[in-house]
Amino acid sequence: MFSSPSRPLAWMLFICALWMSLVTAAPHAKVVLSPSKDPFYQPPKGYEKEHPGTILRSRTLGPKSLAAFSAFPQNIANAYQFLYRTTDALGNPDATVTTLMVPHNANASRLVSYQVMQDSASNDCNPSHVLQKGEGLKGVITQAELLFMDTLLERGWYVNTADYEGSKASFTVGAMAGHAVLDAIRAVLASGNLTAIKSDAQVQLWGYSGGALASGWATQLQPSYASELKIIGAALGGTPVDLNATLSAVGGGPFAGLAPSGINGLANQYPELAAYVDSILIPKKKKAFYKAKDLCLAQAALQYAFQNMDSYVTRPDYTNAPVAKKILEESVMGRADTPTIPLFMYHAEHDEVVPYKPAGNMYKDWCSGGATIEFVKDELSEHIVLFITGAANAIIYLEDRFKGVAVHEGCSSRTTVTSLLDHGAIGVFGKVIWDALNALLGLPIGPGNL
Ligand SMILES: *[C@@H]1O[C@H](CO)[C@@H](O)[C@H](O)[C@H]1NC(C)=O
Ligand SMILES: *[C@@H]1O[C@H](CO)[C@@H](O)[C@H](O)[C@H]1NC(C)=O
Ligand SMILES: *[C@@H]1O[C@H](CO)[C@@H](O)[C@H](O)[C@H]1NC(C)=O
Repeated sequence: MFSSPSRPLAWMLFICALWMSLVTAAPHAKVVLSPSKDPFYQPPKGYEKEHPGTILRSRTLGPKSLAAFSAFPQNIANAYQFLYRTTDALGNPDATVTTLMVPHNANASRLVSYQVMQDSASNDCNPSHVLQKGEGLKGVITQAELLFMDTLLERGWYVNTADYEGSKASFTVGAMAGHAVLDAIRAVLASGNLTAIKSDAQVQLWGYSGGALASGWATQLQPSYASELKIIGAALGGTPVDLNATLSAVGGGPFAGLAPSGINGLANQYPELAAYVDSILIPKKKKAFYKAKDLCLAQAALQYAFQNMDSYVTRPDYTNAPVAKKILEESVMGRADTPTIPLFMYHAEHDEVVPYKPAGNMYKDWCSGGATIEFVKDELSEHIVLFITGAANAIIYLEDRFKGVAVHEGCSSRTTVTSLLDHGAIGVFGKVIWDALNALLGLPIGPGNL
């Protein structure tokens, strides 16, 4: 194992997340119907015939309806949700929800589509649900990400976040996620009569880890699936390119829960994989394995920490069966079109959850395919640390695109000791923290309010 000064920070965060998920194990007064019970999530009859991105239902949540950590209402101008038509990984119609946040003094020509690291095979962990006030802390990681969204809102940008796993909670299914992200943007841009957003607003994407899986698949599917969308930039951090690499990396470690959640997520989309997995599970371990279908990220981390998938199945080389191999192959990012959207990618060299190498290789492939990418390799951070320290560079990139700063065509990569010390990063990072504190205090979120 390598050692790095950021390691204690990663552990501190991890333990915090576990502690918060424990707190939620206590019964909590439910004020929001869960997606499985809420009729809003059910598409109306005949929705299949609508174009992808069509709004099927909409609702206005109100200005203080979303909350950080369930308890701190966010003071924005308004929040909306749309159920919209999308397409799953098999090409079948599906419907899912996106949440749109509008800050005070918003610029209706700027939208960031931010994907969270839901990392769960349960629809009850969808951002549209766990970001709502009073929802409890089971979605604590997603709720923490609301603070990143706040710093975007503080700049006056509209922000939307999609329930990109679709109606079946297909965690790790890249094509589902990519379609859902692109269709959410279509839905949001068509919502102007309700939300005042301009239909030709400039759009950008951001996501880290599971969120980068979704936003990253959106960038490579956009040329074929949503070529009419003009997306001017995307920031992808800790990008999961090869699911099998993560399966191997997390076994026996603190993030071992990603394996049962990920496999259940894939099986939710691919019935033949579900049948295969069921056939190789050790009977007395089935219940514990399927429990992942009910757990959000932090809860699954707690449930399965330091376990190995090998102890659940009858064949240790379970990924090598033809059905598993085929689906894992199809799930590798970087094999669809080369993105034409300018990209900012950042990745920790010693990422212990999402190994560096597949992302580094995809960067090279995309570059030889003509992509425009700025790539930063971070030497000291690891997965969770870079999620936080890498945010400043990502925000600077998004800000430059909105300001119209020209991108350097083609690819460039650099290595940094830690992203936090990059030019301009500390200032932006300080603002992230400042914005988060103000948001937690319930101060109005948007430019010109402080
Ligand atoms: C709003 O955003 C558009 C597109 O980025 C930009 O051209 C315009 O200057 C912005 N308006 C303000 C007041 O910042
Ligand atoms: C907005 O327009 C859509 C159709 O384009 C319509 O279905 C919806 O009712 C309108 N909403 C409002 C608030 O006017
Ligand atoms: C997944 O990774 C493991 C460990 O590196 C390897 O043995 C296995 O063959 C891989 N499976 C696939 C489908 O690539």
